[in-house]
Amino acid sequence: QQTFDGWIRSLSPFHLSVEKLREVSARLRKDLVRGLGKHSHHKAPVKMLPTFVRATPDGTEKGDFLALDLGGTNFRVLHVRVVEEEQKVLKMDSQICAIPKEMMLGPGVQLFDHIAACLNDFLVSQNLKGQTLPLGFTFSFPCEQKEIDKSILIRWTKGFNCSGVEGEDVVKLLKEAIHRRGDYDIGSVAMVNDTVGTMMSCGYRDQSCEIGMIIGTGTNACYMEEIKNVRRVEGEDGRMCINTEWGGFGDDGCLKDIRTEFDVVVDETSINPGIHNFEKMISGMYLGEIVRLLLVRLTENKLLFEGRTSEALLTPDAFETKFMSEIEERDGGLENTQNILTELGLKWDSVDSRIVRLVCNAVSSRSARLCGAALATLANRIRVNRRLDHLKTTVGVDGTVYKKHPNFSEELRATVRLLAPDCDITFLVSEDGSGKGAAMVTAVAQRLAHQTRLLEESDGEVDDEEEED
Ligand code: BGC
Repeated sequence: QQTFDGWIRSLSPFHLSVEKLREVSARLRKDLVRGLGKHSHHKAPVKMLPTFVRATPDGTEKGDFLALDLGGTNFRVLHVRVVEEEQKVLKMDSQICAIPKEMMLGPGVQLFDHIAACLNDFLVSQNLKGQTLPLGFTFSFPCEQKEIDKSILIRWTKGFNCSGVEGEDVVKLLKEAIHRRGDYDIGSVAMVNDTVGTMMSCGYRDQSCEIGMIIGTGTNACYMEEIKNVRRVEGEDGRMCINTEWGGFGDDGCLKDIRTEFDVVVDETSINPGIHNFEKMISGMYLGEIVRLLLVRLTENKLLFEGRTSEALLTPDAFETKFMSEIEERDGGLENTQNILTELGLKWDSVDSRIVRLVCNAVSSRSARLCGAALATLANRIRVNRRLDHLKTTVGVDGTVYKKHPNFSEELRATVRLLAPDCDITFLVSEDGSGKGAAMVTAVAQRLAHQTRLLEESDGEVDDEEEED
């Protein structure tokens, strides 16, 4: 009985009631408004960054594009074709370049030289050198976007911390690296966050896709906001996509009541303490470590493995987030658990392995429910913005946690249904969204520019006729 109480006590801080989730959603609702405000946004933990993406695809976009995708441990270069007749975004080819850990923490110049070199290799292998295709750059970090091709990095997140990049224009750094080489050049550039890329790539298939969400190494979402509410941007009519950077929710301490001692340790031992608290409770970079810390605590309290830890269990980051998906699998999960525990050098019995499953489930459920609460907040906001009793919308989603974890998406949806009962949300899983989406943003920007040119020309014709009269 004592042991049982011990397990329950250790896991209960991870169980968030519906009332608590409603409170969290209400706090986020206020923070969205703070982030959008002209004066309040400077200090807002949820940054609500304008993206200068004013329209989702209408299905008439077309052409060939290059896309770069930087945001996780790999960097990708893609050649993308948008085919109007089939309303399809096709990946013609792509190449992955690993980014060594030292480079993620080294000088920015070195990182951008590496990116420029990978792009060169790709252009050579595809026989594209000499063409100046428009380029979409998915850069999955918080950036203050000045224009579609000018984007200042606010701060690094996830595992990156390269010097000399924060506060700088990322497009300029990329162009400088290419010019340093001097053997090729690029056409117009459009900068995109991965959430925006995801929304836009799904938007070609489903034109009611107005939210993009990522739950992978990091977490974040974007959505279409009324321009009149974006006080930092001029204009009254129409909409603009806002990159919420909801990972920063709680950085002012407003989630103190739900943070556990394990969340505090994860934050304090990270390379960016105090930053992205919400993300650290949710995303793939941190979930495994939360589980590991919990397992260590349970073992120390003699509630697991007869009180015996192992070297691996005591090693930071040794319990990978992907283990959670394997452990929580419906069929075969228990066997996977036992294999993983053996790999980690632990002596387990069948009760231990069941408890480890419960621990993983407590941590992944909390993540899914928090994400669900945040997504419900966005959907409710869109509905109220449009004065609708009922909103039907689509969310484009990407990220390994959402895609690979066996119960994550179900739990997230259940939470959204509870907290946003008047919103009917379709979830569209994006394939290659950030790469294809970057091309899509570039294509939509070109379509809008083309439409503006046509309008100006036809205005000119009317003026001429009037003059003749
Ligand atoms: C970044 C976001 C990004 C998210 C998902 C976060 O750490 O700040 O810009 O969208 O990760 O990749």
